[in-house]
Amino acid sequence: MKKEKIIIANWKMNLSYKESLRYIKDIKSFLVGLKNIKIILCPAFVSLADIQKEIKLKKIELGAQDVFWMEEGAYTGEVSVQSLKELGCKYVIVGHSERRGFLNETDAMINKKIQIVLSHNIIPILCIGENLEQRNDNLTAKILRDQLLEDLKIIDFKNNQQIIIAYEPIWAIGTGHEATTDQVNEAVIIIKSQLAKLYPNKDIEKSFKILYGGSVDENNVESFLDLDVIDGFLVGGASANKVHFIKLLNKIKN
Ligand code: PGA
Repeated sequence: MKKEKIIIANWKMNLSYKESLRYIKDIKSFLVGLKNIKIILCPAFVSLADIQKEIKLKKIELGAQDVFWMEEGAYTGEVSVQSLKELGCKYVIVGHSERRGFLNETDAMINKKIQIVLSHNIIPILCIGENLEQRNDNLTAKILRDQLLEDLKIIDFKNNQQIIIAYEPIWAIGTGHEATTDQVNEAVIIIKSQLAKLYPNKDIEKSFKILYGGSVDENNVESFLDLDVIDGFLVGGASANKVHFIKLLNKIKN
């Protein structure tokens, strides 16, 4: 039997609250009918509660796009992991390059976020990846290793817990320029060997799932399907449009 694919739909700030609800009402029966595909929807914080009502008891999972690293307190504008848990989130994206870039999120902050997420038994989706300059300077391997080292510093987790790592080269995000399968393959091998070094006592295949993200859409997704090293995709732009998302999922299921 074919391995189940994980598809994370990161809607970013693309759909308003009303648009998000319309979207899920329109396509939830299609999503529920998909076999061998685990769908994780990551809407904006404000839409989580009502999206959860729509997908409850269905096979669709909920994730948040971010979280704060403290339990509670005077942190205006931030959202706690406890709230996310109460809303039904089983996943949280951490360290997305848009947050690292636009909001100056550091590896140290990301590390604290992963710690709090795991302590609440939620699965972190850690995004890592190099920018174009780094790739051109042959620094991809170093950047990936360093990010894993810093982001996962002193992080231990139970054998029944999991971390998802999304390889997201920054030059491929939202640009329409996807990485080649060779580039993804190479990067994932580097990621897995660094994880094996960091967690010598863990079964890496079981404890980590590895995804690719960066301009994945209905036109290029098939080229990645034979890539055994990845477990699925983190889809941004193409997931925020239901017509494109359905087309993309149809390519995966076939
Ligand atoms: P994209 O975004 O699919 O629009 O490139 C991917 C991501 O931001 O995770």
